[in-house]
Amino acid sequence: MLLAPSILSADFGYLANQVKEVEDAGVEYLHVDVMDGAFVPNITFGAPVLKWLKGRTELFIDVHMMVEHPERYIEDFANAGADLFDVHYEACTHLDRVVSRVKHAGMKAAVALNPATPVSVLEDILSELDMVLLMSVNPGFGGQTYIPYVTEKIKKLRCMIDDRELSTLIEVDGGVNKNTIKTVVDAGADVIVAGSAIFASNQGGVKEAVRSLRSAVL
Ligand code: DX5
Ligand code: ZN
Repeated sequence: MLLAPSILSADFGYLANQVKEVEDAGVEYLHVDVMDGAFVPNITFGAPVLKWLKGRTELFIDVHMMVEHPERYIEDFANAGADLFDVHYEACTHLDRVVSRVKHAGMKAAVALNPATPVSVLEDILSELDMVLLMSVNPGFGGQTYIPYVTEKIKKLRCMIDDRELSTLIEVDGGVNKNTIKTVVDAGADVIVAGSAIFASNQGGVKEAVRSLRSAVL
């Protein structure tokens, strides 16, 4: 299991310090939530913020684009140092073209699905993807509750990937905490996003939150 703390729940006044804290706690990815106020109701930040962070961490940068027409920002994020660029299926009319352009820009390509979008829509493009992100809350905000029917989607996608002998990773995002993480990992997830469970934990800080998530899956 790889852990991807979402900086959405971090203290933005101390962002570089918060990133250092998760890096020191031994996580694998940094999950960067980009929101445009149109695809989702909330607004966060863009490539310039990532550029500043990139110089301060060695972590693998996973950029989750909750924006309409994400193809407008492929080069900006590649130049800012994104390692993986995750576009929403629901935001791309020409998904194949977007995925090709992401790879051409030197990033790994991922597609995200909203909770109500079935995994079957990815059947034909799956072999082209480095990762699939399954949203387990409606995107837009941290701290929401895990939607239980997503567990079945994780299992279905796991079968699709294994049947085709692909190495595509499954990332699950939303409402994952020490009570839900085991269900998600047992269903077949490889990468776990955790925002509030890591940054908003008021028991023992970031290091203890990471330890408690890891021990919950044992
Ligand atoms: C929600 C974002 C998530 C969010 C998860 O739209 O995509 O990455 O930060 O937050 P938690 O882990 O608190 O549900
Ligand atoms: Zn996210």
